[in-house]
Amino acid sequence: PDTAIIVVAAGSGTRLDAGAPKALVGIDAHSILRHALDGVFAAAPAQVIVVAPPGYEGDAEAELDAAAGERRDLGRVVAGGATRQLSVAAGLSALWGDVTTVLVHDAARALTPPAQIDAVSAAVTADTGVIPALPVVDTLKRVDADTVVGPVDRSELAAAQTPQGFPRALLEEAYARALSSGVDYTDDAALFAASGHAVRHVDGSARAFKITTPADLERARHLLAAAPT
Ligand code: C5P
Repeated sequence: PDTAIIVVAAGSGTRLDAGAPKALVGIDAHSILRHALDGVFAAAPAQVIVVAPPGYEGDAEAELDAAAGERRDLGRVVAGGATRQLSVAAGLSALWGDVTTVLVHDAARALTPPAQIDAVSAAVTADTGVIPALPVVDTLKRVDADTVVGPVDRSELAAAQTPQGFPRALLEEAYARALSSGVDYTDDAALFAASGHAVRHVDGSARAFKITTPADLERARHLLAAAPT
């Protein structure tokens, strides 16, 4: 299928506390965004839309140049918004041509295996969205302030990752509905499902974890040192 990938990279990275927008923070010699884009281009997309922190579009262009090489014409940079949902909407507005499948990917999941991107893309149908997910390994509790209210059956749960893939027409419609409803979704699959559409999951991977805290950045550094690709 003709697949576009929207890479949302406009978050501020407050929890990383690195003094720069998160996507531009270095893991090794390369930034979080550069690693994410290397993975994306290894998955043979038809289009790549990078949603950059406002004011940092030039930095995002440079990372796109480096990752895309001679496929630079497949990529485009747009400025993000104040919420993830607004950033994805900006990315959707920048699509061109007759793409039929749209993947939305967190730049912060910088080490996501290209095979995971391909698997999500291949599983999207004309009416069904797809997310990568991992089983939950922790023992979970329902809590109310400091009181443990009860257990949670983790076999019913899965931890969602990205990229999340959708048929373009239904995703655009679902975004238009969400923006007019005023509800702020932090997860594209939840927004898509709110419009009444089905979502399936495929296997996620440990390497697709989201870099959020300084400890996550350390983990990414160790993983790259141990197994670069
Ligand atoms: O903050 P968090 O790590 O959950 O953000 C997930 C992804 O969404 C990140 O890749 C971040 O750059 C992106 N994002 C965005 N625009 C925002 C907030 C987050 O593109 N306003």
